Amino acid sequence: MYTLPDLEVLRDFNAIAILTSGGDSPGMNPAIRGVVRAALNNGIQVYGVQRGYSGLLAGDLRVMTSASVRNIVQRGGTILKSDRCEAFKQKEVRQQAIKVLEQNGIDALVVIGGDGSLTGAHSLAEESDIAVIGLPGTIDNDIFGTEDTIGFDTAVNTALDAIDKIRDTASSHERYFLVEVMGRNSGFLATHVGIAAGAEKVVVPEYEVQIEQLGQQLCDNRRSGKGSSGIIVVAEGQTPGLTYRLAQQLKQQGEEPRVCILGHIQRGGRPSGHDRVLASSLGAMAVRYLQAGYSDIMVGVANGAILDVPLDSVIRYRKGLDPKLFELALLLHK
Ligand code: F6P
Repeated sequence: MYTLPDLEVLRDFNAIAILTSGGDSPGMNPAIRGVVRAALNNGIQVYGVQRGYSGLLAGDLRVMTSASVRNIVQRGGTILKSDRCEAFKQKEVRQQAIKVLEQNGIDALVVIGGDGSLTGAHSLAEESDIAVIGLPGTIDNDIFGTEDTIGFDTAVNTALDAIDKIRDTASSHERYFLVEVMGRNSGFLATHVGIAAGAEKVVVPEYEVQIEQLGQQLCDNRRSGKGSSGIIVVAEGQTPGLTYRLAQQLKQQGEEPRVCILGHIQRGGRPSGHDRVLASSLGAMAVRYLQAGYSDIMVGVANGAILDVPLDSVIRYRKGLDPKLFELALLLHK
């Protein structure tokens, strides 16, 4: 499915550690399996770190065998568990993590997670001799340097399953449903879900919304018979509450809107076929990049090819929502 780079093996490793960090995403397990199997098949030992950076600080490591990753390719979540470790932002704390890795004879680390986790990975690479590779694991698809992230496709499909059901009630009762999807301060998830669900409107943090104007527009649509789906997809945004404010506005205009917050349902469930292939490829390629002598990079995907992106730029730049894609989401419902 992806074009894989041709990389020469230039370096040998004693042991690779792997951890998952930040919000879990469906596909983390196939990624873990990809790393473990690729490393073991190349004669490299693998340690699984429990509970992300917190587990690393506590020295919570276990040796991974081929059997440790048996039967996990189809499972959501992460067998290694995950957490958000605030303390890891401090250099002294990271020094403790480096000590743990060195004491266990580990000379490489693979981190699967979102931008916060990849920031920690970049610091570790800068502050030690340990080779560090990041893999983009988040349902938000908001990581600079890669078109796709592990879990995004599954989350889109999970939201669509829910919306297809909600639409039955929206249409039976001729009501507006405001469906809130995750994505933090990025509108990728909302835009993709909006297009695929045939939503009447999509609201994302990248574009400011005038609540009154939008409410009026939706009511006008209803009266003129233009609005048909009754589904409005709203990205959660950085500060919660917009979805309810929008519902309130519609109420004031005589509508009977309902709000449905999809929430963490989008983070769970079995990974889609797409995410399994993406995660397996990225996991195996992380090991290959290490063997080729790379460090301080993220392995991502662009134009159907697996590629390396310096972690420095991954964390420095913000991935922008393609305005044309957003326009498309709106255009298709005019
Ligand atoms: O980054 C993934 C994500 O699911 C975001 O979409 C969401 O804003 C956030 O994590 C929720 O985090 P938590 O599970 O810590 O509440």
